[in-house]
Amino acid sequence: MAASGSALAAGMLPRTSLRMDAWPMAASAVHPNPDSEESDRIRRMKWWHEARFGMFIHWGLYSLIGRHEWVMEDEGIPVSEYAPIAGQFKPKPAPARAWARLAREAGMKYMVMTTKHHEGFCQFATGTTEYCAPKQGPGRDLVREYVDAARGEGLRVGFYYSLMDWHHPDGAACATDPAARKRFVEYIHTHVRELMTNYGKIDVLWYDVAWPLDAAGWESERMNKMVFELQPDILVNNRNRLPGDFSTPEQEITAAQEGRAWESCMTLNDSWGYQRADDDWKSPRRVLQNLIQCSRDGGNYLLNIGPMADGSIPEESLRTLSEAGQWMQRNGTAIYASDLCQPRASDYASFTRRGTTLFMHVYFWPGNYVAIAGLQARVLSARYLATGGKISFEQDRFRVRFTGLPQEAPDHPLTTIAIECDAEPRQDMLFVRKHKPRDGV
Ligand code: GLC
Repeated sequence: MAASGSALAAGMLPRTSLRMDAWPMAASAVHPNPDSEESDRIRRMKWWHEARFGMFIHWGLYSLIGRHEWVMEDEGIPVSEYAPIAGQFKPKPAPARAWARLAREAGMKYMVMTTKHHEGFCQFATGTTEYCAPKQGPGRDLVREYVDAARGEGLRVGFYYSLMDWHHPDGAACATDPAARKRFVEYIHTHVRELMTNYGKIDVLWYDVAWPLDAAGWESERMNKMVFELQPDILVNNRNRLPGDFSTPEQEITAAQEGRAWESCMTLNDSWGYQRADDDWKSPRRVLQNLIQCSRDGGNYLLNIGPMADGSIPEESLRTLSEAGQWMQRNGTAIYASDLCQPRASDYASFTRRGTTLFMHVYFWPGNYVAIAGLQARVLSARYLATGGKISFEQDRFRVRFTGLPQEAPDHPLTTIAIECDAEPRQDMLFVRKHKPRDGV
């Protein structure tokens, strides 16, 4: 979270700089040797760290009901009433093409789609159940369409997969009945095997909700081992009760402990699945500020769309992501492959960094000048990132002021100033507080 100026002044300085290629990661079952495990993780995660921005897609039978993806549970709908909806699920041809196009235009580099959410409906072809897209209303493999669409736009492909299952008869009984657990874990592992086998190279496996078992119960070590045997380059998250490759803060932007990779997942309104009446939309500016905050702190931003049952993207999501994408086209170099960025104190801007370049993202344009206090590096030059137009500045020990600016913001929804420095830009607000000359009483 953004530290306030006073938190900084109180000495709560954020962690020090960490190089992108120096991410020590948590244990997994594949490499008994921790060094080779770590270098393998660095290799597998390189594209992901550089990507910064991905699209999450929640799409399933709940999209037909349009009252949140938890509707089955939260309204206590019996399986006998819920499951027949699968027959009415008739998406238009290849809606994932429009999602993938939008993702690319928004500047996103990867996608993660729900292959099975908690409702238990498999969007993919499976030999384990009739409750799957090819054998129900869709009459085809929706995961296949999604994979083809993402690849068609040059995006990396991720699969979300819920371990918790409200449909399978053993989905709750597995906690107390050993025979049920054995059957259910076999069912789940078979899905994971199918997903890892039938769609070519998969880049991310995004497990979700491990209720009601622990890692031993899910046989998560064995599951991950199978995943890495089938997909040696894949990344796995931490929601099968093992640390995996990255942490998954949800609906909040909180950096993981130093050295640990993280991805903040977030909705555009307040629901993951389509909810007809949810109009609590984030603005394009809020979306970009969140992406900037993730980039600043070394994380990724996985932003969700909840398509309608036919696969159409809600109008507001389209608008917001298109607008964010136009800004990304002009300013994306401040986001991709960014380094951890220490400066953060400002009342109208936030920051990202690449090497010795500091990017100041002004979200409340103050007019004719903007300033940064306590910058420890010397500024060599400044320009608008979008246009390359040069900006004048003056700097003393306590502040740098960028001057001669227009009264109205030159770019929307944020204006980004690229500031070349003579060293890694760092900010010391305590220095300003202590040493800025004071007058007598
Ligand atoms: C939660 C919810 C789920 C959503 C997920 C996304 O675990 O149960 O509906 O898919 O978060 O992170």
